[in-house]
Amino acid sequence: MHRDREVWGHDAGEFNPLRFRDGAARAAAAAGIPHALLSFSIGPRSCIGQGFAMLEAKAAMAAMLRGLSFRVSPGYVHAPVDLITLKPKFGLPVIVRLLDA
Ligand code: HEM
Repeated sequence: MHRDREVWGHDAGEFNPLRFRDGAARAAAAAGIPHALLSFSIGPRSCIGQGFAMLEAKAAMAAMLRGLSFRVSPGYVHAPVDLITLKPKFGLPVIVRLLDA
Protein backbone atom coordinates (compact mmCIF):
# COMPACT_ATOMS: atom_id res chain seq x y z
CA MET A 1 0.00 0.00 0.00
CA HIS A 2 2.85 2.41 0.76
CA ARG A 3 4.19 1.86 -2.73
CA ASP A 4 0.89 1.74 -4.62
CA ARG A 5 1.28 3.75 -7.83
CA GLU A 6 -2.45 4.50 -7.91
CA VAL A 7 -2.07 6.32 -4.60
CA TRP A 8 1.45 7.79 -4.71
CA GLY A 9 1.99 8.22 -8.45
CA HIS A 10 4.43 6.79 -10.98
CA ASP A 11 7.42 7.35 -8.68
CA ALA A 12 5.86 5.42 -5.78
CA GLY A 13 8.93 3.20 -5.49
CA GLU A 14 11.39 6.08 -5.38
CA PHE A 15 12.94 7.47 -2.21
CA ASN A 16 11.55 10.99 -2.25
CA PRO A 17 11.59 12.72 1.13
CA LEU A 18 9.99 15.82 -0.42
CA ARG A 19 6.75 13.83 -0.52
CA PHE A 20 6.58 14.42 3.22
CA ARG A 21 7.73 18.05 3.38
CA ASP A 22 4.34 19.13 4.79
CA GLY A 23 4.10 16.20 7.19
CA ALA A 24 3.26 12.53 6.76
CA ALA A 25 -0.48 13.00 7.28
CA ARG A 26 -0.66 15.72 4.62
CA ALA A 27 1.32 13.59 2.17
CA ALA A 28 -1.30 10.88 2.41
CA ALA A 29 -4.14 13.38 2.10
CA ALA A 30 -2.46 14.95 -0.93
CA ALA A 31 -2.26 11.49 -2.47
CA GLY A 32 -6.07 11.41 -2.26
CA ILE A 33 -6.46 8.90 0.57
CA PRO A 34 -5.93 10.38 4.04
CA HIS A 35 -5.19 6.96 5.52
CA ALA A 36 -2.85 5.80 2.79
CA LEU A 37 0.13 6.03 5.13
CA LEU A 38 -0.12 3.40 7.84
CA SER A 39 3.40 3.24 9.27
CA PHE A 40 2.00 3.72 12.76
CA SER A 41 -1.42 2.25 12.01
CA ILE A 42 -4.66 4.20 12.68
CA GLY A 43 -7.56 4.04 15.09
CA PRO A 44 -7.75 3.47 18.84
CA ARG A 45 -4.92 0.88 18.85
CA SER A 46 -2.51 2.85 16.71
CA CYS A 47 1.04 3.50 17.91
CA ILE A 48 1.19 5.53 21.11
CA GLY A 49 4.90 6.15 20.48
CA GLN A 50 4.45 7.87 17.11
CA GLY A 51 5.24 11.39 18.30
CA PHE A 52 8.23 10.19 20.31
CA ALA A 53 9.53 7.98 17.48
CA MET A 54 9.40 10.84 14.95
CA LEU A 55 11.10 13.23 17.37
CA GLU A 56 13.76 10.67 18.24
CA ALA A 57 14.47 10.00 14.56
CA LYS A 58 14.91 13.73 13.88
CA ALA A 59 17.12 14.23 16.96
CA ALA A 60 19.32 11.24 16.03
CA MET A 61 19.61 12.44 12.44
CA ALA A 62 20.51 15.98 13.52
CA ALA A 63 23.17 14.66 15.93
CA MET A 64 24.74 12.48 13.21
CA LEU A 65 24.66 15.10 10.44
CA ARG A 66 26.37 17.63 12.71
CA GLY A 67 29.59 15.65 12.97
CA LEU A 68 29.64 13.02 10.24
CA SER A 69 29.43 12.75 6.47
CA PHE A 70 27.86 9.76 4.75
CA ARG A 71 28.55 8.39 1.30
CA VAL A 72 27.18 5.21 -0.24
CA SER A 73 30.08 2.82 -0.88
CA PRO A 74 31.03 2.21 -4.54
CA GLY A 75 30.40 -1.49 -3.79
CA TYR A 76 26.68 -0.90 -3.17
CA VAL A 77 24.35 -2.93 -5.39
CA HIS A 78 20.85 -1.48 -5.73
CA ALA A 79 18.51 -4.44 -5.15
CA PRO A 80 15.56 -3.57 -2.92
CA VAL A 81 13.54 -6.54 -1.62
CA ASP A 82 10.13 -6.40 0.01
CA LEU A 83 10.14 -8.35 3.32
CA ILE A 84 7.30 -6.62 5.15
CA THR A 85 9.47 -3.51 4.90
CA LEU A 86 11.73 -2.60 1.99
CA LYS A 87 15.32 -3.78 2.56
CA PRO A 88 18.54 -3.72 0.53
CA LYS A 89 19.14 -7.33 -0.55
CA PHE A 90 22.94 -7.08 -0.28
CA GLY A 91 23.05 -4.58 2.55
CA LEU A 92 23.85 -0.90 2.34
CA PRO A 93 27.57 -0.30 2.80
CA VAL A 94 28.18 3.32 3.73
CA ILE A 95 31.41 5.25 4.13
CA VAL A 96 31.19 7.38 7.27
CA ARG A 97 33.73 10.15 7.90
CA LEU A 98 34.24 12.61 10.72
CA LEU A 99 33.60 16.06 9.26
CA ASP A 100 36.57 17.68 11.02
CA ALA A 101 39.03 14.83 10.37
C1 HEM B 1 9.45 4.06 13.86
C2 HEM B 1 9.01 3.62 15.03
C3 HEM B 1 7.67 2.95 15.26
C4 HEM B 1 6.80 2.40 14.36
C5 HEM B 1 6.93 2.32 12.82
C6 HEM B 1 5.67 1.88 15.12
C7 HEM B 1 4.56 1.25 14.57
C8 HEM B 1 3.50 0.76 15.31
C9 HEM B 1 2.33 0.13 14.75
C10 HEM B 1 2.08 -0.13 13.26
C11 HEM B 1 1.51 -0.21 15.77
C12 HEM B 1 0.14 -0.93 15.68
C13 HEM B 1 0.36 -2.41 15.82
C14 HEM B 1 -0.92 -3.19 15.68
O1 HEM B 1 -1.81 -2.77 14.94
O2 HEM B 1 -1.05 -4.22 16.32
C15 HEM B 1 2.16 0.20 17.01
C16 HEM B 1 1.64 0.04 18.26
C17 HEM B 1 2.25 0.43 19.43
N1 HEM B 1 3.42 1.13 19.54
FE1 HEM B 1 4.63 1.66 18.01
N2 HEM B 1 5.89 2.13 16.46
C18 HEM B 1 7.10 2.78 16.57
C19 HEM B 1 7.67 3.26 17.76
C20 HEM B 1 7.13 3.13 19.01
C21 HEM B 1 7.71 3.69 20.24
C22 HEM B 1 9.01 4.50 20.29
C23 HEM B 1 6.89 3.32 21.25
C24 HEM B 1 7.00 3.61 22.71
C25 HEM B 1 7.80 4.55 23.23
C26 HEM B 1 5.79 2.55 20.68
C27 HEM B 1 4.76 2.02 21.41
C28 HEM B 1 3.68 1.33 20.87
C29 HEM B 1 2.61 0.74 21.67
C30 HEM B 1 2.52 0.71 23.20
C31 HEM B 1 1.71 0.17 20.77
C32 HEM B 1 0.41 -0.59 21.09
C33 HEM B 1 -0.75 0.39 21.15
C34 HEM B 1 -2.05 -0.35 21.46
O3 HEM B 1 -2.15 -1.54 21.16
O4 HEM B 1 -2.97 0.29 21.98
N3 HEM B 1 5.97 2.46 19.31
N4 HEM B 1 3.37 0.80 16.69
